[in-house]
Amino acid sequence: MRTTAAALVVFVSILLVSPAHAAPSDLPSEVKVLVAYHSTTGNTEKLAQAVADGARSSPGTMVTLKPVAQVAAEDLFVTDAVVVGSPVYWSNMAGEVKTFFDNWQLKFGVFPEFKMKNKVGAAFATGGQVSGGKEVTMLTILAAMLGNQMIVVSGGGAFGASATTEGNSPGIDDQELTGAKELGLRVAEVARMVKLGMRR
Ligand SMILES: Cc1cc2nc3c(=O)[nH]c(=O)nc-3n(C[C@H](O)[C@H](O)[C@H](O)COP(=O)(O)O)c2cc1C
Repeated sequence: MRTTAAALVVFVSILLVSPAHAAPSDLPSEVKVLVAYHSTTGNTEKLAQAVADGARSSPGTMVTLKPVAQVAAEDLFVTDAVVVGSPVYWSNMAGEVKTFFDNWQLKFGVFPEFKMKNKVGAAFATGGQVSGGKEVTMLTILAAMLGNQMIVVSGGGAFGASATTEGNSPGIDDQELTGAKELGLRVAEVARMVKLGMRR
């Protein structure tokens, strides 16, 4: 009887220290989020900083904030999530952002292995007019991510975070900054779920 009890204690102890039975919060928790943007006059950069702040507010998240022209292959391959932001140019993403996505294949070689597969992706945009193409811009960014078999998420708004910057709404207001922070936080949280889920 005493032997059985001792064996039980040993068995339970093994269960408690075994990594396979560790609570999710005990697992390695660092999540990497890359916020990449293009900005000529500073509006999209300001929204990008708010997205980055939101991601940082999720504990254990390491955030890299870079213009798309400075993103290297390694930045993409080590990250768990990518949030891409663009100004609206003629109702669509700016050419610099399109070139960035084209370079995923042309320079970084993501295809045919789908090296960005199952990383989390999201979008944000600024546009001069209220109804001037921000949602199309975000959807085309998300479409490029879907083509790469990424897991796209929204936050801040239905398709991502956005801000109107001209006319009666110059600059970026607090509500728009709050939406951008919400997007960053959601991306970090979903990236953590995907990463920890994959380790189980
Ligand atoms: C070439 C060009 C095309 C633009 N086309 C649009 C447009 O179609 N719709 C819109 O709402 N704003 C348009 N804009 C305004 C910009 O999207 C807006 O000012 C944006 O906030 C600029 O972002 P940035 O300060 O990060 O460069 C355009 C601006 C430029 C320079």
